[in-house]
Amino acid sequence: MATTESVAIVTGASQGIGQATALRLARDFSAVVLVARDKNKLETTSARVRSAGAQAIIFDLDLREPQSTDTVVQGVLDRFGRIDALLNIAGAVPQIDLFEMTDAQWDDGMALKFHGARRLTIRAWDALKASNGSVVFMSGSAAFAPKPAYAAVAAVNAGINALAKAFAEQGVKDGIQVNSVSPGAVMTGRRQAFFEKWAPAHNLTVEEAIKRFPEQVGITRFGKPEEIADLMSFLVSPAAKWMTGAAVRMDGGEIKGI
Ligand SMILES: NC(=O)c1ccc[n+]([C@@H]2O[C@H](COP(=O)([O-])OP(=O)(O)OC[C@H]3O[C@@H](n4cnc5c(N)ncnc54)[C@H](OP(=O)(O)O)[C@@H]3O)[C@@H](O)[C@H]2O)c1
Repeated sequence: MATTESVAIVTGASQGIGQATALRLARDFSAVVLVARDKNKLETTSARVRSAGAQAIIFDLDLREPQSTDTVVQGVLDRFGRIDALLNIAGAVPQIDLFEMTDAQWDDGMALKFHGARRLTIRAWDALKASNGSVVFMSGSAAFAPKPAYAAVAAVNAGINALAKAFAEQGVKDGIQVNSVSPGAVMTGRRQAFFEKWAPAHNLTVEEAIKRFPEQVGITRFGKPEEIADLMSFLVSPAAKWMTGAAVRMDGGEIKGI
C-alpha cells in the first residue's frame, strides 16, 4: 500500500460538476478517487487530476448497484488505507412531469442519487471516522422550489438535505463533518439536456431558451461547474471544519425564500 496523506472520493467524476470538483480537489488532496460509469471519460479526468499533481484511481461502475459500494470503498482502502473526504455528486434523476412519471422512473431516480450516496456514506463511515473526515451530498435548488415539471428532482434533493442532516447528527458524535450543497442552474451536459426538452414545450429553440432562462428565474447568468467545485473544496477543507449539518445554496440568487 502506497503512503498517501489524504484521499478524496468523488462520484460523478466523468463530467460536469463532479469532474470539476475532482480537478479542484487534486490541488488539496494527495489522491482523488474517480467514480462513474463511463471509463473513457474517467480516464480523461484521471489524466487531468494527475497533471494537477495528485494520484488518481478510477472505478467505472454503476452506483445504482448495491455491490458497487463495497467495490469502491474496499478498493480505496486496499490501495490507500484511508478516506478523508467523500463527495456524493453523481445524479441523474429524470426530469419528467409529475403526472407522467412511472413508478420505475421514480425508483430509478432514487436508486442513484439518494440510495447510492446513502450506501456509499455508510460503507465509508468507519474510515471517515478514523480520519475525522468530511462528506458532502449534492442536492439542488429544486428542493426549495418544487414544480410539477421536475417533481422527482425536487423530492430527491429535499430527501438528500434531510439525509445529510441525519448523517451530520451522527457525525458530531463520530467526528465526521457532513453538509449538502444545492446549486442552481449550472451549465453542464445535464442542464443542456434539460433545455433540449424544455425549449420545444415552450415553443422556443434551445438557444432561445438558454438565453431567456436566467432572466426568467431572476439570475444574471448560469453558474459554472468550477464555481460549485470551489465551494465543495472549501467544505472539505480545514477552514470549514466547524461547519456541519449545513444545507448550502449556491444559485446566483435564484431561490428568493429565506
Ligand atoms: N447542472 C445543474 O444545473 C445542477 C443543479 C443542481 C444540482 N445538480 C446536481 O449536480 C450533480 C451533477 O450534475 P451535472 O449537471 O454535473 O450532471 P452531468 O454532467 O450529467 O453529470 C452526472 C454525473 O453522474 C454520473 N452518473 C450518472 N449515472 C450514474 C450511475 N448510474 N452510476 C455512477 N455514476 C453515474 C455521470 O457519469 P456516467 O454517465 O459516466 O456514469 C456523471 O459523471 C447531479 O447530482 C445533479 O442533480 C446539477
